[in-house]
Amino acid sequence: MVYTKISQVAHYVPKQVVTNNDLSQIMDTSDDWIASRTGIRERRISYDENTSDLASQVAQKLLDKANLTPEDLDFIIVATITPDSMMPSTAALVQGKIGATQAFAFDMTAACSGFVFALATADKFIQSGLYKKGIVIGAEVFSKSLDWNDRSTAVLFGDGAGGVLLEASDDCRFLAESLNTDGSRGGLVSGQKGLMSPFSRQEDDLSTQYIKMDGRAIFDFAIRDVSKSILMTLSQSGIAHEQIDYFLLHQANIRILDKMAKKIGVPREKFPANLMSYGNTSAASIPILLSELVEDGTIRLEGCQTVLLSGFGGGLTWGNLIVKI
Ligand code: ACO
Repeated sequence: MVYTKISQVAHYVPKQVVTNNDLSQIMDTSDDWIASRTGIRERRISYDENTSDLASQVAQKLLDKANLTPEDLDFIIVATITPDSMMPSTAALVQGKIGATQAFAFDMTAACSGFVFALATADKFIQSGLYKKGIVIGAEVFSKSLDWNDRSTAVLFGDGAGGVLLEASDDCRFLAESLNTDGSRGGLVSGQKGLMSPFSRQEDDLSTQYIKMDGRAIFDFAIRDVSKSILMTLSQSGIAHEQIDYFLLHQANIRILDKMAKKIGVPREKFPANLMSYGNTSAASIPILLSELVEDGTIRLEGCQTVLLSGFGGGLTWGNLIVKI
């Protein structure tokens, strides 16, 4: 049998820091409101880099860390809901920029669950035995999709990218998986609807280009449905929560992490957070967090720790992976 292992992790964020106080200069909000409701203090905002630029930086870092050449890669998957363009895909742009001439490349769209969905997909490519090395990146330049006149969404998101290098392995590291979608609730968080043809009878509403969210309903969905699915993933896999070293959850709101830890019955210290510095970076949030934890030595990539990755958001989508890391 061939299995998958995460052999390297990396992240890259734009240099420009925008604090809550900076935002309060351009909209009716305050550091106190944003920090107390969400935990976010600042976020990175791109001036001149697009999603493929951030993702290419991550891809290059992964190759450098692993001492690989771009030609060693068999595939590149980029999870994003803020691509440079629908065509070419952001993954294709990355493939071209880094010169990964042997790799096929495509984007995956599952909002804040995108990285988990993409990682689960990539695991199957490696397990098939057809491909030996691939990169999965979550990358967003969310700032270009926000309505900067809508304080209820603009303060929540940030730009950034993170990713992993996957390689074939002899021992089983991807221990459990659960992916879910409920399209009937898709309207709770939506954006970037397609352009209208001149023949269409539907009204063209420019406001639908921006992200719109029923924050309270998404909050409740995370606490109720995502907590339940994490408990289900644990019980179906026969892995006790005590065996999980860290729960790496999508970084949307510190209150969601607090409540989830309580609901699952796990000490809050097992739910690391970095949303204070980056806001919600959608598909990028989990790999950025993972990369920072490896950088500071909390996670060691030696195959001795077990983490549960959980993404949730637009679609609605939510998904968990338990990985020996
Ligand atoms: N500054 C000041 N006041 C604000 C701001 C702001 N930035 N935004 C909203 N308010 C006001 C509202 O107008 C409202 O005022 P009112 O009571 O006079 O009408 C008040 O604050 C309360 O607003 P609520 O929306 O009720 O605030 P809540 O406590 O629910 O927090 C939040 C909102 C932070 C969005 C929270 O609901 C949340 O985090 N939800 C989850 C978001 C999430 O997880 N998203 C992930 C998926 S996103 C994706 O997939 C792309």
